[in-house]
Amino acid sequence: MPMLPRSVQRIVGERNVVSHHGDNQVRIRGALSEFLEPDILKMYVGRIDDIVRRHLDENWSSCRTTVTVLPLMKRLTFDILCALLFGLETGTVRDALSDELERMFDGMLAIPVNLPFTAFRRSLGAGRRCRQLLHRITRENKAKLGASPNDDLISQLLSMTDDHGEQLLTNEEIVDSSVGTLIAGHDTTSTLMTFMVRQLANDPATLSSMVQEHEEIAKNKADGEALAWEDLSKMKLTWRVAQETLRIVPPVFGSFRVAIEDIKFDGYCIPKGWQVLWAASLTQMDPSIFHEPAKFDPSRFESQSSARPPCSFVAFGSGRRICPGIEFAKVETLVTMHYLVRQFRWKLCCKENTFIRTPLPVPLQGLPIELEHKPSLSPFKCDQTL
Ligand code: HEM
Repeated sequence: MPMLPRSVQRIVGERNVVSHHGDNQVRIRGALSEFLEPDILKMYVGRIDDIVRRHLDENWSSCRTTVTVLPLMKRLTFDILCALLFGLETGTVRDALSDELERMFDGMLAIPVNLPFTAFRRSLGAGRRCRQLLHRITRENKAKLGASPNDDLISQLLSMTDDHGEQLLTNEEIVDSSVGTLIAGHDTTSTLMTFMVRQLANDPATLSSMVQEHEEIAKNKADGEALAWEDLSKMKLTWRVAQETLRIVPPVFGSFRVAIEDIKFDGYCIPKGWQVLWAASLTQMDPSIFHEPAKFDPSRFESQSSARPPCSFVAFGSGRRICPGIEFAKVETLVTMHYLVRQFRWKLCCKENTFIRTPLPVPLQGLPIELEHKPSLSPFKCDQTL
């Protein structure tokens, strides 16, 4: 059974998929997964493509410039999630949600003392306001159901019914699960893409193979034509680079479980009620499973996952709690990398290649890079080269 710290549950809401277990977890997770499965996601590739291109045009495209990658990637994943989960592309509600989310994160892991001026209290307030905003969106979407074709997560969850024709999830469950999904999908994917940018700056051979993969795909597209689901299935090397990045720098370091009964493990007994921490690096950096684990080698993922012991690559977790957003994260990452590696060259501004965990990994200064448009694709005239 997973274990969100009580203080975090108070901030994000208690009726989300992570806080539930047993039948309720299955019911909520089933509803969420319907939205996140490939058959549905296929329909969103064009929209994600559009958001990524707009984001790159607005935030990355000046002649030669320094940009800080992590905050930009966070903005991008927030924009994608807001559009697809809540149907919010722009506007004051979306901006308010972004501000409240930032405030909520700031105190989420602070000492949980609910007194005036503590970070925890500010985070509690921001969490409450986030949920109020989402309640408002839920009510508005409910009023519009049937009248206009809404395909965002909230509208889909509102339309799902049980065997008696009743709404499958309560409004509170929809709101808390939406906040949970926003948190689960926001910083994780942005961290992955940030560390891919860092890796590619230091690894010209991998970058050049990736560029080749993406140019090959672009050759068969008309000018300005959006990527489609079929194009993503050709980005095999890019996904292996993502997996290898996730192996070495997993955004989620691990997670907590509570033993629901006495468990025997490796000669030890874990008594019922004890808390257990599983950590990704214990298997992902184990040399008996991943030879020379510190070496960046995407070809490890060429072989079937069945060639490795079960539960050894756990960047997305495993078992009944495995991340339901894997395909969503994959689409965002592949589309973003397609435009990034074709349009830009970059080099790191910080010579030191370190990061800290907060608990997500954060590169030094958020990864500032010096960026240059590739001349062939640039709408600008740039005569400098890096
Ligand atoms: C690179 C990106 C991502 C990584 C590395 C990641 C990682 C993880 C991990 C390790 C877990 C399991 C935690 C545990 O076992 O306690 C998890 C759960 C979850 N993830 Fe992701 N995730 C990513 C992206 C996403 C996205 C894009 C979404 C949604 C749009 C999402 C939604 C969720 C949800 C709802 C859960 C909870 C599932 C449950 O408890 O049944 N994740 N994720």
